[in-house]
Amino acid sequence: MKILPLLCLGLFVSSAFAAGSDRPWQSLPAEVPSPAANPTSEAKVELGRMLFHDARLSESRSVSCASCHALAEGGADHHPTSLGVHGELNGRNALTVWNVGFLTSYYWDGRAASLEEQARMHLLNPIEMGMQDAAYVEARVRSIAGYQPYFERAFGVGEAVNITNIVRAIAAFERTLITPDSAYDRFVKGDKNALNEQQQRGMTAFRAAGCGRCHQGPAFDSPSLAAETVFTMRFPSYPRSPYAATYKLIADLGRFEWTGKEADRSQWRVPSLRNLSYTAPYMHNGLVPTLAAAVRVMGSTELSRTFTDPEVADLVAFLEALSGPLPKVMVPTLPP
Ligand code: HEC
Ligand code: HEC
Repeated sequence: MKILPLLCLGLFVSSAFAAGSDRPWQSLPAEVPSPAANPTSEAKVELGRMLFHDARLSESRSVSCASCHALAEGGADHHPTSLGVHGELNGRNALTVWNVGFLTSYYWDGRAASLEEQARMHLLNPIEMGMQDAAYVEARVRSIAGYQPYFERAFGVGEAVNITNIVRAIAAFERTLITPDSAYDRFVKGDKNALNEQQQRGMTAFRAAGCGRCHQGPAFDSPSLAAETVFTMRFPSYPRSPYAATYKLIADLGRFEWTGKEADRSQWRVPSLRNLSYTAPYMHNGLVPTLAAAVRVMGSTELSRTFTDPEVADLVAFLEALSGPLPKVMVPTLPP
């Protein structure tokens, strides 16, 4: 008789909804660990910073990673959906690149399992950077003679300018983009004055309402549990929520649009809640204009509940406390 509940508990704990209400709050680590295949080095980061800011990495030579992910403005572009290389709109809202090193899958639908893979997909995406194929990217970067010594310093002499190393350098740079000094982080690390009363009420409400079932850990996402796997879930959980129609939340079929697999229909990743103060508008289609609206949408579509105005204000105050001061990133001089 005692075995069954224990077994159920075991299953529950190993699921992605493991953030029990008594789980400790976690602050962002001071550094992003790097994968064995791409250990971070100063030379890679320096090269990656240049590539990130270099518009020559796009077909028209007009769009760099920084065009849509403006680092000093929070790492996104403030548009509902982004304008790409040939003036076409990407169907989804730009996510911030701050703290991406702490995530375990990328894109709204989690279709990339590493930062390296993600950067490669972006370069070759016909709307975003529009490069034809890997060889085309390599030829473009090789045509910029000034890059050769930087690649050699980062990856050794020889055929260093190749797509693998290009995306490794970009990913290494992205792993340095962290904001570990938010009011929330200081509070969790022991500074009891870092959050005001309203923010603390919001913190309690966040957990009590059940937001932490999905938004958990230091990045407030749902991390994948094993390497190279991706955790996605059906969104909205309550598709009859009136907000589903108001904000057109079911028009885009999520992961299905990419894989065409029935099991991926309306599957979305749980995004991080870090630095949302800088990244309005919200949700995958960027149609939800404010954090207050996003909180109401989540209450209704994910928890089937309606928050009062003071509850919404408290939750927004807490979400704002998850935004860190943005460290200054030097804009590099690009090689000729
Ligand atoms: C045309 C605008 C545009 C450009 C240029 C662009 N991005 Fe993005 N980026 C986006 C959009 C839009 C998304 C979300 C797309 C999606 O989920 O389908 C995104 C998502 C990301 C993510 C995923 C974040 C997360 O939480 O999953 C990373 C990392 C990223 N971009 C890095 C880069 C890098 C590196 C470059 C340059 C190689 C780049 N971006 C160039 C618009 C852009
Ligand atoms: C059942 C899981 C689940 C619960 C519970 C949940 N969320 Fe979410 N949340 C998601 C998913 C999935 C998305 C992505 C939606 C999309 O694809 O547009 C999301 C998106 C968000 C966003 C938008 C992020 C952005 O970058 O635009 C905010 C803000 C947010 N959630 C806050 C909350 C708050 C506050 C609560 C509690 C009131 C909550 N969530 C409860 C799963 C959940």
